[in-house]
Amino acid sequence: MIPVILSGGNGSRLWPLSRQGYPKQFLPLVGEQSMFQQTIGRLPDGLSPPVVVTNEAHRFLVQEQLQSIGCTPLQIILEPFGRNTAPAVAMAALEVLSSGRDDIIAVLPADHYIADLPAYHRALRVAQERAERGDLVLFGITPTAPETGYGYIRTGEAVGTQASVVSEFVEKPDLQTAMQYLASGEYFWNSGMFVFSARRYIEELAVHYPEMFESCELAFEASESVGGCRLLPAEQFRHCPDESIDYALMEKTETATAVTLNAGWSDLGSWSSLWDTETRDADDNVLLGDVVSHESTACYVRSDHRLVAMVGVQDLFIVDTKDAVLVAHRDSVQDVKTIVNQLKAAN
Ligand code: GDD
Ligand code: MG
Repeated sequence: MIPVILSGGNGSRLWPLSRQGYPKQFLPLVGEQSMFQQTIGRLPDGLSPPVVVTNEAHRFLVQEQLQSIGCTPLQIILEPFGRNTAPAVAMAALEVLSSGRDDIIAVLPADHYIADLPAYHRALRVAQERAERGDLVLFGITPTAPETGYGYIRTGEAVGTQASVVSEFVEKPDLQTAMQYLASGEYFWNSGMFVFSARRYIEELAVHYPEMFESCELAFEASESVGGCRLLPAEQFRHCPDESIDYALMEKTETATAVTLNAGWSDLGSWSSLWDTETRDADDNVLLGDVVSHESTACYVRSDHRLVAMVGVQDLFIVDTKDAVLVAHRDSVQDVKTIVNQLKAAN
């Protein structure tokens, strides 16, 4: 099995720590290593070296971070700009097929947290077995809230321990639908990790999204080797539809299988998920760096450079960096993304 690490996102909900030049997956947000390094570090033994798909701008960052954990990748695929995950996975699958192999690939986002490694490794093994039969495997997490940023999986007939046929997949439903799904008890969250054979992914793309398949193939064929990496040319890559694997394929395929994942999974996508994951003090606060607190509860405060003091506040997220400070209420912390878009538009 070949791990495919997706690390081309921009992580804008974790602004101001996550920046265009240094997105969140390359930062040590929880623990000493970056999330990208931790994604590789938590792989089970015996897998192939990874294929990394990332933005051209982060080539040296990726190479440096791989080297510092002693990882020699199978390949680093460089995108001139992001086209979302469906083309990124297609490039990795084409990479594998072009070397004359037809391995199972494990597509892994570089920004997750997983607490229970043995459970994670068991789920990967079950997934690999199903993928060897031709299934497109995703991982179902028991939902705890009506999250609208996730995909939802409804499962049908069981196909062995821990695995079931996917009877419905809905990416990012609206809040009302997500609430119905949660109340029904019939849905799982999609973890965003996938396991399938490289050939099956390409075959399914050709059936369900021919335009995606053809444009990705053309871009791959026109790619060139730069500094030991595969660089996709902007001129061809531009024609690949900007779409996630979830919309492009998982909502459409009829051969999806869900493996249940009970491993303390968390998507470190926003400040609130970091508050969830970190150890909290008696007042339910996460205080990182030089921070003092008086009669304040359920806050996340992170200061890298100077003293931050809070008095009598609740449910705030405060992130102080060298050139920007974020203050956000818990209810709006998902909207940090809009600030980033505003800043981009103004520049
Ligand atoms: N190489 C590359 N190129 N990687 C990308 C690109 C791209 O253009 N866009 C995103 N990624 C990477 C991100 O860095 C991240 O590691 C991963 O692909 C997933 O992208 P997200 O943008 O974080 O997806 P999402 O969180 O909105 O949704 C996905 O994950 C959810 C769980 O966290 C979906 O699969 C949902 O269904 C799922 O519930
Ligand atoms: Mg995500």
